Amino acid sequence: MPDKYHKELQETVAQVRGLLEDLLQLGVVEVPMGPDPAARPPCRLDERDSSTNCRAETLEEIRADLGNCQRCALSKRRNHIVFGTGNASARLVLVGEAPGRDEDQQGLPFVGEAGRLLERILFVMGFNREDVYICNVQKCRPPKNRDPLAEEIAACVPFLKRQLAALQPQVIVTLGSFAAQTLLDTPQPISGLRGHWQSYAGIAVMPTYHPAFLLRNPAAKREVWEDVKQVMTRLRQGDS
Ligand code: URA
Repeated sequence: MPDKYHKELQETVAQVRGLLEDLLQLGVVEVPMGPDPAARPPCRLDERDSSTNCRAETLEEIRADLGNCQRCALSKRRNHIVFGTGNASARLVLVGEAPGRDEDQQGLPFVGEAGRLLERILFVMGFNREDVYICNVQKCRPPKNRDPLAEEIAACVPFLKRQLAALQPQVIVTLGSFAAQTLLDTPQPISGLRGHWQSYAGIAVMPTYHPAFLLRNPAAKREVWEDVKQVMTRLRQGDS
C-alpha cells in the first residue's frame, strides 16, 4: 500500500478508536445499528405505497410467487412461462405484448425475428439486451398469437406491475398498442400515443411501435428512431 494511504488508514483507525473510547467513557456499551432493511418482509399489494414496515419485492420473489401459474387458461397450452430477462438494475425496461412461438419454446422474451430487430434497435441505442430488462404484459403465449382476453390480462398484469415496482427503471418503453394501452390504461391508438412521454407510477413511459409491426412496415422505423432518440436523451439526463 502506498505510504500516503497507509497514513490515512492509520489516522482513520485512530479517530474511530478515539470515538469508541469517548462512547465507553459516557457509559455507552453498544451502538444500535437500526433494523436491517433486508430483514423486513416484502410489501403486500395493499401496503405497497403506505407502509414503511415492508420493503420492495425482488424479481426472484415475484417469479417464485408466479410459480407454475395456472391463473388463466393460457397455462394449459404453454410450454414455458416467459417471465422476463435482463439486468435487474436496468434504467431501461422494454415491455412487449406476449410470447410468440419461439419465446414459448425457449422461455425467454423477444428471441424470434422481432427480437432480433429489437436487439438491433437496442444496439443503436448503445445497449446489449443484458444491459436492459425485457418482459411482456402476458407471460404465456396466446394460441396462434391471438389477442389476450380480458381475464388473461387481469390475471397477468399484476405481475408486470410488481416487476416494474421491483425494477424502478428510469424509463419504460412499451412496444406496440397492447402494451401501451394496458400499462397506461387507455384506449388511445398507438399512432397517437407513440413519441409522446407518458407516466406510469411516476416512471417515464415512451410508447413506440412493436418490432413485429416494423417487420411488416419498415417505413415506420423512422418514427421509432425518433422515439428512441427521445429515450436516449432522457437516459442521458439521468446521468448528470
Ligand atoms: N412479441 C412480443 O410482444 N413479445 C415477445 O416476447 C415476442 C414477440
